[in-house]
Amino acid sequence: MFFSTNELQHKDTLAIGLFQKSQLSGKAKEMDELLEGRITELLKEGDISSKRNQLSKFFPSPETGIKRIYFVGLGKESDYTFEGAKEVFAHLFKKLHQDKKQAVSVLLDTFIGKDLPAQDAAHALSESCLLATYELQDFKHKTNEPDRFIEFVYATTDHDQAEIQASLKVGEVYGQSVNSARTLVNMPPNMLTSSDLASYAAELAYKYEFEIEILDKEQMEELGMGGILAVNRGSTEPPKLIVLKYQGKEEWTDVIGLVGKGITYDTGGYSLKPRASMVGMKTDMGGSASVLGAMEIIGELRPEQNVIAVIASTDNMISADAMKPDDVIVSLSGKTIEVLNTDAEGRLVLADGVTYAKQHGASVLVDVATLTGGVIVALGNETTGVMTNDDELYAQFKEAAEECGEMIWQLPITEKDKKRVRNSKMADLNNSPGRDGHAIMAGAFIGEFAEDTPWVHLDIAGTATTEKPSCFGPTGATGVMVRSLATFVERFEGKK
Ligand code: BES
Ligand code: ZN
Ligand code: ZN
Repeated sequence: MFFSTNELQHKDTLAIGLFQKSQLSGKAKEMDELLEGRITELLKEGDISSKRNQLSKFFPSPETGIKRIYFVGLGKESDYTFEGAKEVFAHLFKKLHQDKKQAVSVLLDTFIGKDLPAQDAAHALSESCLLATYELQDFKHKTNEPDRFIEFVYATTDHDQAEIQASLKVGEVYGQSVNSARTLVNMPPNMLTSSDLASYAAELAYKYEFEIEILDKEQMEELGMGGILAVNRGSTEPPKLIVLKYQGKEEWTDVIGLVGKGITYDTGGYSLKPRASMVGMKTDMGGSASVLGAMEIIGELRPEQNVIAVIASTDNMISADAMKPDDVIVSLSGKTIEVLNTDAEGRLVLADGVTYAKQHGASVLVDVATLTGGVIVALGNETTGVMTNDDELYAQFKEAAEECGEMIWQLPITEKDKKRVRNSKMADLNNSPGRDGHAIMAGAFIGEFAEDTPWVHLDIAGTATTEKPSCFGPTGATGVMVRSLATFVERFEGKK
């Protein structure tokens, strides 16, 4: 896809935003004048709607040189925000995609509101265009019908062209990176093993000049990464600990650690999942996809921050040698863990991931994981569950998530919760204190490894995938938290 600002030259297909108000103004008014008052007339007669997200198509007479105009309703200007604009653009581009239009000129200035500056409108435009037109990469034998995609989007504007072009680029990078994460999560597990995930990360590293380190099984054994190794025992696929470093500051200080759960398939292990809940467990590397998506944005936009991304990746399988309930393992941190449930494997790999990030200079931590069914019971499929040991860091993260329109909600970790994960006859910790509040138990467990390092934990089990298609994309992977993580990194103010 190609986004650019320019004069109104491609006139086949135009897109215009219309606010719900008594009179047209600005560029919409100019267009109305060019069309001899037809827009006003059609609005009055109800053929064109200015209600939020409503689309209407109009075919002007040939002498205008315009073949078709897509009108999209923006609703009341007073409630038109960045999020609203993204939704409006998503509806528009979804329709253009369905109509198989390959090029469109968007009159950007008709999408600017009193609370929505031109740059935000441009960002919303390109981000939504990519998200709304995302298609699942399936393995069906194709029909003869050629695929047609939107290729050229021209944003015509009277505002500073360079500024608008820069915002279009930011939105494009955001949308593209969310889509990359979606594609990783949607991949069948036989086609995306831990080694494949490592190769993907290596490609990113090459493209963006990240420092990269991929630890294999032997190196993990030498270091004593008992958590990830225990989960990997039942598998014939080797585990990988994928580490990417991005240095945007002179000194390697104030390092943000992003840690992702990369379980490429979760059978549950010997605490086997019931057959119906196993289907879909290819998405259990959603946390690592969010981290890689965020690293793509970071690689493109190069903020003045230091970031270490750590992805702990393996599948969770069964064999005669696999981890069993009752096993006691020694994690990288040295803390011992009694395994009560082999299906609570995410926290075991994250324990080592978090410790590794700390050992390599992370001064704050954010971990992301499809960690518990419990978070879905608690918060549903629209809201990511968050836990933290540092309210100030959480506040910074919350601001970033709000800016991106991604919903999060904090769950508490009390002293009594900590006692429950520390309650084991055999070891320092147990990995499954029972079903009550188990999203919190998982968070509390990871908190034992974050220790005093300021830390935010994101449980995306409910939000990493969706069964409802929306204007922002089809069913399947959502790419949740890619944008929030990247925005958090860009805006990070350090820890006082
Ligand atoms: N990968 C699952 C969590 C999950 C559930 C992700 C549904 C996406 C959708 C995780 O490893 C798991 O199995 N968690 C258990 C924890 C329990 C054994 C304490 C769960 O949530 O039931
Ligand atoms: Zn599990
Ligand atoms: Zn899992």
